[in-house]
Amino acid sequence: MGSLATWPIPAMTWRLALALSWASYGHQRVWTKVEESPRLLSVQCWAVRYPEAIDCSWTTDRETATDPEPGLQASFIATYRLGMISQGETHPCLQPSPEARSCVIPDIQMFSMTPYILNITVITQQGARSSLVPFIAEHIIKPDPPEAMSVSPIPGKQLRVQWEPPHSWPLPRYFPLKYLIRYQRQGATRFRQVGPIEETSFILQGLRPRTQYQVQVAAGDFMDYGELSTWSTVVATTPGSK
Ligand SMILES: *[C@@H]1O[C@H](CO)[C@@H](O)[C@H](O)[C@H]1NC(C)=O
Repeated sequence: MGSLATWPIPAMTWRLALALSWASYGHQRVWTKVEESPRLLSVQCWAVRYPEAIDCSWTTDRETATDPEPGLQASFIATYRLGMISQGETHPCLQPSPEARSCVIPDIQMFSMTPYILNITVITQQGARSSLVPFIAEHIIKPDPPEAMSVSPIPGKQLRVQWEPPHSWPLPRYFPLKYLIRYQRQGATRFRQVGPIEETSFILQGLRPRTQYQVQVAAGDFMDYGELSTWSTVVATTPGSK
């Protein structure tokens, strides 16, 4: 799974596979977010372009004894394997350069029952030290926010909200997203929320005429894996009086 050749399978088949896999997974959502701070490194991995790749990045902690000088040259070796220690083949997590603080796992094994283990090794003049970060790909799905949002008044004190899936989400046909909309009347203290919906447009009804509304949209995996995107940029519009 995960190769281009297997993708033109009808969407229903994917949904079935997703549903079955969810059922067999139960509610073992232990690793919802990958963040580990062993004194030296803080590592984060997100699947913003599931199932194409996983993007990881890390920061070093300048205060630790092993990295005392700001600007001290550090380089990194990033590898990953599927499965626990001493099991599974080791692959490089692709780095733009050995000094870069990011890497890409270029191929996702979907619905793996064993976690990925990312191994980031920091090399400084003081020596080398490794951090191991376990995660399940589906648990770190987090799409980018929807794009190209527009909000336009339509007759009947309504607003039509339209948007596009994030460009970074590679296969919206096979891995659909669902969306939440939140909107707030100017002067109101709280947002109202609608969704989740699978369409990329929605009509907000029952609005106050000549009052400004601020609208945002967020995207999430349609099977509720991982996390919702951040909210899109705000678009403000005023419904007409008719
Ligand atoms: C992590 O990677 C380093 C550098 O490649 C290697 O020496 C070390 O054995 C690895 N650790 C584990 C637990 O795989």
